[in-house]
Parts: sequence; C-alpha cells; structure tokens
Amino acid sequence: MPVRWRAPGRVNLIGEHTDYNDGFVLPFAIEQGTTATVDTRTDGRVAVASTQRPEPVEVAVDTFRPGTGSWADYALGVLWALRRRGVDLPGLTISIDSDVPVGSGLSSSAALVCSVATAVDALLGLELSADDLLAVTRSAENDFVGAPTGGMDQLASLRSEAGHALFCDMRTLATEQVPFDLGDLTLLVIDTRAEHRHADGEYRRRREGCERAARQLGVPALRDIDAAGLQSALARLDDDELRRFTRHIVTENERVLQTVAALRAGELAELGPLLTASHVSMRDDFRITGPELDCAVDALLGVGALGARMTGGGFGGCVIGLVETRTADTALAAVQTAFADRAFGSPQAFAAVPSGGAHRLAS
Ligand code: GLA
Repeated sequence: MPVRWRAPGRVNLIGEHTDYNDGFVLPFAIEQGTTATVDTRTDGRVAVASTQRPEPVEVAVDTFRPGTGSWADYALGVLWALRRRGVDLPGLTISIDSDVPVGSGLSSSAALVCSVATAVDALLGLELSADDLLAVTRSAENDFVGAPTGGMDQLASLRSEAGHALFCDMRTLATEQVPFDLGDLTLLVIDTRAEHRHADGEYRRRREGCERAARQLGVPALRDIDAAGLQSALARLDDDELRRFTRHIVTENERVLQTVAALRAGELAELGPLLTASHVSMRDDFRITGPELDCAVDALLGVGALGARMTGGGFGGCVIGLVETRTADTALAAVQTAFADRAFGSPQAFAAVPSGGAHRLAS
C-alpha cells in the first residue's frame, strides 16, 4: 500500500541567518506544502516523478551519489542519508506534488525533503525519532544537494503546529510552540518574484564571515555575544564587513526574543517595529535585501503597515507585511503600483495562515 505524507513550506516571522550562528528563529508553517506518495518496488530501483517537473528520474537504489544537480536530488538525498545511517532500502517509487512556489524563500526544498523522509519512514516502519528526521532531512540538503543551509526550514516543516509560531534555539534544538493568533491583523506574504541572483555564493559568504567573526571574538558562535556585549565585540573586530554581520546577528537574536515576548503577551502590534528593524538590519548591515524587496517594504510601510520585512535567505523572494485586515487590499495595491512604477515584475500575494507541520494523508 502506498503511503502519503504532506510537509509544508514555511515563512520565517523573524530571526534571519541566525540559525547557523546557533541563535534563535521564529518560523511558522504555511498552508502550501508538498505531498510525497511512496511505495516499494521489487526491481531495486528508485523512480522519482513530480507533477511539476517534466522529467522523471530513475536510478538503482545502491548507485546514486551526491551532487548530480537534478531536482530529484532532494528526494534521492533523503534516501542517501537514510542509507548512511544503516537503513537497508528496497526499490521505491516516489511521486511528488507541490504547491509551494519554488525560489521564493518559502522553503520548497525543505517541504520536499521532509515529505519524502516522513513518507519513507512510515512506509518502511523505521520509527525515526524527531531528531533523526531532522538530521536526515538536513543531511539531504547539506551533504547530498550541497546547500549550506542552517536547519531552520526543516525544523519548521517537521514540527510546526497550526495556530502557532515555532520558537527554536538552534544551539540546543529545543523548540516551543508560541500561540500566533493574528486577530484582526493579516500577515501578507508578497512574493516579489525577484530572482535570487548569486544567492548561493552570497549566503556562503555570510556564513563564512560569521564564523570568522566568532573565531576573532573567541566564542563558539555569534550566539554567544549578547546585546550588552555588542559594542565591545565590535571594537575587537578588524573588518567593517565582519562588524556589520555581527551587529545584524546579535540584534536579530534580540529581536526574536522580543517578538516571542510580545506574542506571549498577546501584544501583536508590538511585532510591527521589530519586523521593520529586522529589515533595516538586513538591508544596511547584513546586506541581503535588493531593490524589489526594499521597494515592497517601503510601499507597505508607506500605507500604514505596522511592520514589514524580507523573509528567508535573501536577495529575492518574499516580503511579509503586518497590516490591519481591513487595509490588506490597499496595502497590496500599493505594492503593485510601486512595482509597476519601477518596471518590476508582477508580485504575487497571499495571507499567511500558521499551519501544521508534516502529517500523514489518507492513501
Ligand atoms: C535559508 C536557509 C535557512 C536560513 C535562512 C536565513 O532559508 O535555508 O537555514 O539560514 O535562509 O534565515
């Protein structure tokens, strides 16, 4: 009997590039997700097909190697990571269907690896622990596909609960479900459709820069610098870029903690200035925004959004804007007009619904 699991994409509410600095993040799962339907087969081969891709991929279960560059690597990477952990895999048929936009910073890749990992786990009765599932899905992306990402996306896709944001300490991987009830506010997600130009190289550069800064400061990770120690840390760094990276990470960790406190207190409006401050820090210090992202944020703030920021890895993708629900249409129209004025592409938008993490569907 085939087994079907669906795993969602995510929006990161706040805490950008803090995950690989052992810091804090606050993502939530969205309604859009990826469904993997898996079944065993007897010929020792793995076939991966997707409704969204014309070319199915078929390989022998014991031959595939990292880094072929195919879209199917995300699915094959999960199997490869399972094999590395000693799982004896039979042949498999894997069918993928997804409504997470690709390349928009909504973690379509995490949705894919998490849907495949949870489906294969259930099909084969592996009973992997939550930590093992996280390790397998991270390894598929980091070691097989070769994307040096930080783990937030897979955690969000696996462990989110509907109506909550997921507060994670990325050092200990401890998580807390924080109620996220938007009340009469709407969190607009605006996909700017801006290309992630050079995003991989720029992401790696930020990651390496943060690691260099931590080494210069004599700490295991930038997480170990807090707001009180920021000025003296900056004075000990010899490079302006490393000072900017450090300032972003330290202040961003602080903003995550403040956002969690505001959510726990039910003070949603307090999120606004924190989101906007996060964007300014990513624009001026971490330098991972871009013309379309800045334009969307400015347009939202210009028509009275409580706050707005880019979300995800950067250099393209989505902006989130916290607006009063009755003004959501006006806010979106303001972004569309600003984009048309600057001859940018047409943005797409939806209202975010904090949703549940990976779950089984009826076969
Ligand atoms: C990408 C990565 C995550 C995280 C974010 C930035 O989404 O996959 O691990 O680093 O960028 O916060």
